[in-house]
Amino acid sequence: MDKFIIQGGKPLHGSVMIGGSKNAALALMPATLLASGKYQFENMPDLRDISTMGKLLQMMGVDVVREGTSLHVNTFRVNKFEAPYEQVKKMRASIYVLGPLIARYGHAKVSLPGGCAWGPRPVNLHIEGVRKLGASIDIEKGYIIAKAKRLRAAKITFDVASVGATGNVMMAAVLAKGTTLIKNAAMEPEITALAQFLMKMGARIDGIGTHLLEIEGVDALTPVDDVMIPDRIEAGTFLAAAAITGGNVKIERCKPAHLTAEIAKFKKAGCVLEVGDNWIRLKAPRSLRPVDVTTAVYPGFPTDMQAQWITMMSVARGNSTVTDAIYFDRFKHVPELIRLGADITLEKNAAVIRGMRHLAGAKVMSTDLRASASLVLAGLVAQGKTEVLRVYHLDRGYDRLEKKLHALGASIRRVSSQEF
Ligand code: UD1
Repeated sequence: MDKFIIQGGKPLHGSVMIGGSKNAALALMPATLLASGKYQFENMPDLRDISTMGKLLQMMGVDVVREGTSLHVNTFRVNKFEAPYEQVKKMRASIYVLGPLIARYGHAKVSLPGGCAWGPRPVNLHIEGVRKLGASIDIEKGYIIAKAKRLRAAKITFDVASVGATGNVMMAAVLAKGTTLIKNAAMEPEITALAQFLMKMGARIDGIGTHLLEIEGVDALTPVDDVMIPDRIEAGTFLAAAAITGGNVKIERCKPAHLTAEIAKFKKAGCVLEVGDNWIRLKAPRSLRPVDVTTAVYPGFPTDMQAQWITMMSVARGNSTVTDAIYFDRFKHVPELIRLGADITLEKNAAVIRGMRHLAGAKVMSTDLRASASLVLAGLVAQGKTEVLRVYHLDRGYDRLEKKLHALGASIRRVSSQEF
């Protein structure tokens, strides 16, 4: 298990290129099950979650080959319609194969994901949505067993605007007979990217980027190529790295329009931001101002930036509150940040933070992807040496994070397990 060793206190300077969106890629890859043939994706980030999805598709008979930042997918020989527990437990997004498999092949056996590192994450909306489209669903020995001849359109209203359920049900509905309505659909850019990809394949979808999707089912789709949108969470994490270290960094090849809520909060915290078409430059203030944040569905402040914001606020000039309204228990990073000297109290789904002048380096443990990012940020600003253990969580969602930070002037290195 690798760890990072960070010597804090170096302001970041320069520019950094943002990679393709992990969560968009995780939706588009299973969508290839909807039509047999060859696909080529560009700007594919080299991440553990992407190879996990690749392996899952390979287990179904799909050819998946990476060539630099291109990913070649061939779905001619799909011969297995199952997502086994061993894969799903590694990555919950594996459940995305449910919709395409049932729509295209009429059956699917997908393991239930179970809990995740920060608490329960149900998939009831995915199951209910597919059931409403006419699939019969049985839960047997921890597996969702779905069967259908041809799916039929339905009116579906989600209680919560779930990203995963919207993606899954949309992928099922594009091949269903008739016109499906999804009310309270997620509007996240990754869902928009999926909808646009499906449209390119021949799907008919209205209301893309809104809470109401109208999907007119078609008989068949065709394979197409696509380019992944930039990863807005990676961009946000680098903005936070610049802000917390008192740096001046240009974030390149990002999509500022996807970061409106974050940009507003960074400005409130005293950062000076310049925004171009596909870049953002952030110049940090001498010390950050405290800014309250409550996470929300897009276009609100993303829960995937909550941990990073808490770290920033730990060294702000005053008190703030960060509330997670999406995942109430997503605070595993807080006890670790406290080990570095942060003053944070948890009250239900909120972190009440008293900004400290300094954090002090220590050994801390990654518990999940974004928690790990928040610990790296803390290490960048903490006095002395911070060791972030178990960075394999980080490798799920950040492509060469330590190399990119190093190029910006951070003192950070990866030590692999053989070396300690
Ligand atoms: C996706 C993202 C994840 C991000 C999250 C919220 C991917 C691969 N992952 O996860 O990085 O943190 O969106 O922006 O894109 N819910 C239910 N029932 C369901 C499904 C969800 O109650 O069947 C609830 C969840 O418990 C949560 C909320 O809906 O409170 C949002 O979850 P959801 O949008 O589904 O997140 P994911 O798609 O799992």
